[in-house]
Amino acid sequence: MSNCFIIAVDGPGGAGKGELTKRLATHYGFSLLDSGAIYRVLAYAARKAGLALFDEDSLEQQALVLNLRFATADDGVHVILNNEDITSAIRTEQVGADASKVAALPKVRAALLQRQRDFCNLAKGLVADGRDMGTVVFPQAQVKIFLDASCEVRAQRRVLQLQQAGKDADYETVLQEIKERDERDRNRPVAPLVASKDAIKIDSSNINIEEMVAVAIKYIDSILAKLKD
Ligand code: C5P
Repeated sequence: MSNCFIIAVDGPGGAGKGELTKRLATHYGFSLLDSGAIYRVLAYAARKAGLALFDEDSLEQQALVLNLRFATADDGVHVILNNEDITSAIRTEQVGADASKVAALPKVRAALLQRQRDFCNLAKGLVADGRDMGTVVFPQAQVKIFLDASCEVRAQRRVLQLQQAGKDADYETVLQEIKERDERDRNRPVAPLVASKDAIKIDSSNINIEEMVAVAIKYIDSILAKLKD
């Protein structure tokens, strides 16, 4: 059993988990696990291999042999699949929607479980970003945060992000996609998106990033202080 201190951050896409977990990892000097990226890479690899996104056995095999690594560079973490840098290729709406389809398959989730837990092996601390970090992957996490925001606010943020990246974005289409992805993530039979009973909930709809980070740090520091006593 490792002594890794774990901060599990779960919640729907667009609530601000990516930014929050990045800042927390920097603040505490902890490693970062972006579990969504793993599902995205699998979906990307599956499409490339011509697999159907409902072919559970083939996807399980693909998940077991996925040659994926995360490489830290000056401009952030790069996602490498078979020596190909696919950092931006996996950030499309299509890959996100595909990821939520493959992530609904129980054998796929089981095949990727240990890979996620291994992030704790060498780390003194880990900030884990996902949907089931506090409920399934790291139920022993000392800190569990469930970060939420309304669908409308998440859609507005996504539209802004897409526009800033020079892409076309229609609010109603993005909102619809967010609702569909939420529906799939919340209602799947294994590891559905749900707050762990012992998680604190933060709603980021009406607060900015600085306020969100401050709330989280205050809470984490209180847990760290208790552990020291
Ligand atoms: O967080 P991100 O949007 O990158 O995740 C892509 C998809 O991967 C999510 O919509 C969700 O279906 C799936 N996912 C998951 N469990 C996780 C992380 C992501 O099912 N721990």
